[in-house]
Amino acid sequence: MRHLLSIEDLDRAGIERICERARSFADVARRDIKKVPTLRGRTVVNLFYESSTRTSSSFELAAKRLSADLVSIKSAGSSVDKGESLQDTVATLTALGPDAIVIRAPHAGAAQLITGWTDAAVINAGDGKHEHPTQALLDVHTLLEHLGRLDGKRIWIVGDVLHSRVARSCIRAFGLMGAEVTVAGPPTLIPRGIEELGCAVSYTLDDIGEADVVYGLRMQRERMNGSFVPSLREYAIHYQLNSRRLNPRQLVMHPGPVNRGIEISPETMDGPSSLITSQVASGLVVRMAVLYEVLAGGERPRSGRGDASSGATSPASIGEPA
Ligand code: NCD
Repeated sequence: MRHLLSIEDLDRAGIERICERARSFADVARRDIKKVPTLRGRTVVNLFYESSTRTSSSFELAAKRLSADLVSIKSAGSSVDKGESLQDTVATLTALGPDAIVIRAPHAGAAQLITGWTDAAVINAGDGKHEHPTQALLDVHTLLEHLGRLDGKRIWIVGDVLHSRVARSCIRAFGLMGAEVTVAGPPTLIPRGIEELGCAVSYTLDDIGEADVVYGLRMQRERMNGSFVPSLREYAIHYQLNSRRLNPRQLVMHPGPVNRGIEISPETMDGPSSLITSQVASGLVVRMAVLYEVLAGGERPRSGRGDASSGATSPASIGEPA
């Protein structure tokens, strides 16, 4: 895989390969020495034009655990503040010779766009409302760890689907893994035609009892340029994930950050069925597996790089400490 821009870049076998490798990195993460030499001599640039806690920290740690050199740039505090364009920023960073650029940007298609401006592998860490493929991969990994397989499982994705790149990537990824996906929320927050991605739609939570997994989404107020619900209180009354609506055998997920008490109640968020912290832990090992996939896995990113002399170690050396 040259880049990871969308879940569309993967098939089921590709998702399973990444999750399998994430499992082997999870074994490494349980050792005293958690670092492996897999990407020694390789350079990863994290370029974040939007706020992030989980995604940016786990990509940083993933690169470090694989022994890559790492540069992390947030738009605040960089020359982007001084008016530098995305194209000029990418050209500047490309001059430093990165092997991979991880990008988060508010514009749909930004990750795809920069592939034309750099010869580095590009990983989409969230582009506007479009996609967030590594989030979906870490969610699949979390579910595989808890359920063994997703075939035939019913997964409800609830909330602000309209503004959610996570929903778009998850619908695709869960579907490829054999799950039956339903998206639910107020009509104003469900985009028309979303069924084309391979999901059913519900405007109420009346049938949520059928779900094996319930995946809550944040109300993305920063992307709303109008009023989509009468009030957050009203939204919570009809759509909040809480113990009154869910039964204890239903697994609960959320990509974070959570608006505690709005899309999900505190007791459900912190309860025994919640996988939210497992999702964060999966984020690290899945992002290690994605960096491995684009930089050291099978297909070589570009001529003259990635061969034995480039410093990338072989898959067999995953298990050896750095
Ligand atoms: C998500 C995102 O940024 O799209 N968060 C994340 O990456 N963990 C979801 C969100 O911001 O609500």
